[in-house]
Amino acid sequence: MGFQVYVTKDKKEMSQVASQIVLGQILSFIPSEEKEKMVLGLATGSTPMGLYDVIASNQRLFDAQRIVSFNLDEYVGLPGATPEERTRHRESYAHFMSEQLFQKLTPPFAQTFIPQGTKVEEEKLVQELESHKDDLSYYELKGTNFGKAVSIPDTTPSDYLSWVKKEILDGYEELIKSYGGIDLQVVGVGEKGHIGFHECGIPLEERMLLVKLDENTIQNAVKDGHFKSLEESPHYAVSMGAGLVYEAPLILLLANGERKREAIANSLLGSVTPDLPISFSQEYAKKGKMIYVIDELAARDILGKESALSSKEIYVSDLR
Ligand code: GLP
Repeated sequence: MGFQVYVTKDKKEMSQVASQIVLGQILSFIPSEEKEKMVLGLATGSTPMGLYDVIASNQRLFDAQRIVSFNLDEYVGLPGATPEERTRHRESYAHFMSEQLFQKLTPPFAQTFIPQGTKVEEEKLVQELESHKDDLSYYELKGTNFGKAVSIPDTTPSDYLSWVKKEILDGYEELIKSYGGIDLQVVGVGEKGHIGFHECGIPLEERMLLVKLDENTIQNAVKDGHFKSLEESPHYAVSMGAGLVYEAPLILLLANGERKREAIANSLLGSVTPDLPISFSQEYAKKGKMIYVIDELAARDILGKESALSSKEIYVSDLR
């Protein structure tokens, strides 16, 4: 347990420090009868790209066949007529992971898993949601902001929603469980402090989620050049929720750049609230080991506040 924050000079150093932590964990993993493979939880976004680069270029140090990975999330509603086409789309998280890490590893990881958001037909989903609006026996929207969890009861009369819940959501959680849970979870952060696609305002105990994305998330996907327009950018996703993410014994959160500054500061100095999912890091650190590796720009609002943080048992190491 504990909460450590490393502040680095820039994004490159952030990736170096993060990769030392990840490689250290990989090298110290000892397979046992209960746990034959080390289970890595991985994230997408531009933030962890440098980390994946360093891992790939150091692959001679470890046996990738001893590792299994689970990603946090995947879009629903990418362009493409079939699940295979959507999975191959250049903006799918499956494609991202393959490009950034998986295909660079020889031998590869023993298994890699990504939530199967591309299997969900967006049109069919939206039709089910629209035609049973406000009928809580079908589904319930959870969340206080625009981004919401589409919570599906086990007893939903909709065959399609029931399939989404059992196959896509519960199925993924069961798969994680079957490998003995995630040992080390890497996460990035959205501008407003979301994790994976667990959007701000969604209750923190939620586990696997079908999510209606927040406007800010959709806008940033366009702003960052992933999609041409707000219409083209997916409006739904499947994601691990904070309740599941924060079960790993070690969580490594990466953030760089000005855009993350406010969310990072509030998650450390403010109180724990579903409005800021990463604020749960404070609660989590009472049982688990939380490490932030953030660059100077993302750390700007906490620098000089180290004593306030250490009174909350959050320890800052300035590596600049
Ligand atoms: C998306 C992803 C998150 C990621 C965030 C920030 O919302 N689902 O997992 O943390 O984008 O991405 P970036 O690292 O590009 O800023």
